Amino acid sequence: MKAAIAHPPAAGVEVADVPNPSLVPGSVRVAVLECGVCGTDRDIVGGKYGRAPDGASFLILGHENLGVVAEVAPGVSGFAAGDLVVATVRRGCGICRFCNSGRSDFCETGKFTERGIGGAHGYFAEEYVERPEYLVKVPGALANVAVLLEPMSVVEKAIFQGQRVLDRKEPTPGQPRTGTPTALVAGTGAIGMLAALVLRVRGWTVTAIDRHDANTLAGALLQEIGARHVNAAAGVSALGTDRFDLVVEATGSVALDFSLVDLLGPNGVLVLTGIPDATAPSTPVPGGALWREVVLGNQAIVGSVNANRSYFESGLRDLTVIEEKWPGLVGRLISARRPLADGPEVLTGRDAGTVKVVLTVSNRGTTRAP
Ligand code: BGC
Repeated sequence: MKAAIAHPPAAGVEVADVPNPSLVPGSVRVAVLECGVCGTDRDIVGGKYGRAPDGASFLILGHENLGVVAEVAPGVSGFAAGDLVVATVRRGCGICRFCNSGRSDFCETGKFTERGIGGAHGYFAEEYVERPEYLVKVPGALANVAVLLEPMSVVEKAIFQGQRVLDRKEPTPGQPRTGTPTALVAGTGAIGMLAALVLRVRGWTVTAIDRHDANTLAGALLQEIGARHVNAAAGVSALGTDRFDLVVEATGSVALDFSLVDLLGPNGVLVLTGIPDATAPSTPVPGGALWREVVLGNQAIVGSVNANRSYFESGLRDLTVIEEKWPGLVGRLISARRPLADGPEVLTGRDAGTVKVVLTVSNRGTTRAP
């Protein structure tokens, strides 16, 4: 079968013929329909991240997937040919209590694998084989946007973690707060835009910053959902004295991350989701002033990575609500659909103004709108 592969830690990507996976007992064969391209894929292609499966000389890239069940091994229940599915990314270490209870996103040994990223093949391929517990069924009504479910799951987890930490100051966690909570989303790529959508649909006042004027796709969509857009190309001082209950960071820029602490309101929470380049030059930080502010303001900084199955499920619920409130808007985050053969070009370049580019692998058996 055709697949987009890399040879980490070496940089580079190519579309090559690789063996089809075998349908092993207890598993499901899935024909990949499409798979989104994200910064992690670009980092692997750039030689900065990623690991081939043990004993393999290459890694099939891709983790933001949507597929259709092609074959079910005897005895596997709950799935049938034609079901639309999204596979989760992380596979647990099998050792720690988190991995052994379906929460490998909190793995404490670090011995997990991630499909398409580290130690396990991904989904930029014609098909893959997976165990049913890692497959999330998608309703046909979401077929056009379900390729965004994996980044959506990352957003769901990040916001859930942020909310949990915000809740620490309430006498009863989860009780309705008074007033409208305010959020800042830093970065208007897919993660930032999905975060803005989730927060808006939950009634938050949302401001989003990036380094562009508002006349981009992201700027237009933010306006449509009633979020404010601010061009922070010259720094976060563009936000004046505004301060926020929750800041969701989705850029991976270390220098920006530190300046976001200044934008937290009293008791505010900064959730970091962007994965910085560990080899980036050191950033000078006014440490004393920064930590003084965090302590005196009861503030918190939380990292959030990956997502377990529960966040894929809450992501489906939120996508449904968002589609009802702003019909067709989520689908517009997908700026382009390109064939798998274009993978190397898409993964090594970057079209300005795009939010999400998706590689289309097959159209087999879908009801997806063209
Ligand atoms: C993926 C996560 C993964 C993380 C770190 C992200 O791009 O969406 O599933 O855990 O990269 O590898």
